[in-house]
Amino acid sequence: MAKYYSIKWVDNAVSMLDQRLLPHEEKYNTYTTFEEVAKAINVMVVRGAPAIGASAAYGLVLAVNAAETEDVGTGLEQLKKAGDVLKAARPTAVNLFWAVDRMVKKAVQANAQTMDELRAVVKAEADLIWEEDADMCFRMAENAMQVTPDQVVFVHHCNTGALATVDYGTALGVIRRAHEVGKDVFAYVDETRPRLQGARLTAWELQELGVPHAVIVDGASGYVMRNKGVNMVVFGCDRIAANGDLANKNVTYNLALAAKAHGIPAYSVRPTSTVDLNTASGDLIDIEERPSDEISHVFGKAHIIPEGVEVFNPAFDVTPNELITGIITEEGIAYPPFEKSLAEMVQKAEDRRKNRK
Ligand code: MRU
Repeated sequence: MAKYYSIKWVDNAVSMLDQRLLPHEEKYNTYTTFEEVAKAINVMVVRGAPAIGASAAYGLVLAVNAAETEDVGTGLEQLKKAGDVLKAARPTAVNLFWAVDRMVKKAVQANAQTMDELRAVVKAEADLIWEEDADMCFRMAENAMQVTPDQVVFVHHCNTGALATVDYGTALGVIRRAHEVGKDVFAYVDETRPRLQGARLTAWELQELGVPHAVIVDGASGYVMRNKGVNMVVFGCDRIAANGDLANKNVTYNLALAAKAHGIPAYSVRPTSTVDLNTASGDLIDIEERPSDEISHVFGKAHIIPEGVEVFNPAFDVTPNELITGIITEEGIAYPPFEKSLAEMVQKAEDRRKNRK
């Protein structure tokens, strides 16, 4: 485990490291209602697709614990309603929907006879989602080693580390693993305007891990790829469509275009829980638009554009599948054509889960 955590169940409540305050302050907030958890997801106390999924799962534990009923049917109805509130917190990361749907399905199928039984089932499933996440991240990082050169210069986007997951990270987990197994690693970390997940969070995590790195502005990645020996571009993903188009923090599309132009492999690293086989292509993914003051102001303070100027603030973009070299999952690396390889990875993950039961 890292010395810090993004989200954890502590003393019958949800504890989250407030990522809005990093790197200057390391403060954990405690949430005791599902509404508070939904709000924390929305304002990005917690962020990163897998961490959001685990948070929503524990949000549902809070909801069912608070249900003032002894009738299981009523308890299930309240659970579903809480799930809808949690899903509405952020629209793009499919892990949020995946986790809520998985929790509700489990609660229904368990056929609990009492509210205590229902509460136990819901808590156990949330624990499982939390535990599986850290395990999946480590397996992704291990799988990535087969395509990671021994001397590797990465460009990495956004924050995909232990902060964005339950532990270890997705794309940042690959950098971490490469360093741990003794590869010669350097990472260029783009700052990721406007919330600066790269500059604030990724640089903080890499510093903690002792991995050599430098922060660049988002627009410098083309120059860096051309001149600094970059041989691997890695990023995570918030939702991947059945055909391999993927929604991730904006600038991913630009990075993938630049990587292709320079002949550098670009990998998306994410668990199978981020695959949305019900969405045929990236054009159908709902892209979150965030408040304009994220762009017009620096952290709500300095106003950096003229008063009254319009702002457009999509939080994610969609990278077409033809720009992606491979998709690294906990079940292996998916290569084009992604329709087939992704469906296979999802099936493998489902089989693994069934065999564990
Ligand atoms: O808006 P955020 O910070 O939640 O966006 C996070 C990302 O886009 C990550 O790249 C993504 O969740 C990758 S997987 C950890």
